[in-house]
Amino acid sequence: MLAASLVIEPMANRHIDIVRAIDDRCYSSPWGAATWRTELAEETRCHVVARKGDEIVGHAGLLIILDEIHVTTVAVHPDHQGEGFATLLVLHLLDHARSVGGASATLEVRASDRRTQRLYARFGFQPAGVRQNYYAVPVDDAIIMWLHDLDGSEVGERLDVVRSEIGVAAEGDRT
Ligand SMILES: CC(C)(COP(=O)(O)OP(=O)(O)OC[C@H]1O[C@@H](n2cnc3c(N)ncnc32)[C@H](O)[C@@H]1OP(=O)(O)O)[C@@H](O)C(=O)NCCC(=O)NCCS
Repeated sequence: MLAASLVIEPMANRHIDIVRAIDDRCYSSPWGAATWRTELAEETRCHVVARKGDEIVGHAGLLIILDEIHVTTVAVHPDHQGEGFATLLVLHLLDHARSVGGASATLEVRASDRRTQRLYARFGFQPAGVRQNYYAVPVDDAIIMWLHDLDGSEVGERLDVVRSEIGVAAEGDRT
């Protein structure tokens, strides 16, 4: 079960420096500050941070194109990986995606990164194709994953299963 002190909240400009510090540890080509400012100003984006007490431990974001949701980033500080934070962040993104009428969601993940593929598979994402040499440093293919019928009851039930497995209150139970 996740720590009760863990909170998911909207990302704001004041979080850019700490998010960039996390990305420096997690990505070989992290976004710069200007890109982040643009992302946070765009209505078609949704970015959230995970806060444990006073510490920002991770973040995640998506891009909305009509009813298609693109998960653009999920990162957790290496000191806090394996504690379930990414699962909570992705759960939050998918709840948001459903609330804005998203019908399907997609993302790319390194072909070599089986653990992260399992993280997404837990939510029902399935591999649908490969982008050859999509990643540069180090060179790797991308597996394209899709979650269809995002707005359907089956996905809703799956999210509730993950929610209960990680000990988070159901959507309707939150005050
Ligand atoms: C990928 C990343 C965000 C994962 O963060 P994390 O907080 O460590 O993830 P979680 O603790 O939620 O762990 C995911 C777990 O869900 C697991 N899982 C999958 N299905 C499961 C199930 N049915 N029941 C329980 N666990 C399950 C995964 O296998 C993994 O388990 P493990 O910790 O035992 O290996 C993090 O490693 C990271 O920041 N990596 C670098 C950036 C990156 O590659 N981002 C992804 C871009 S596509």
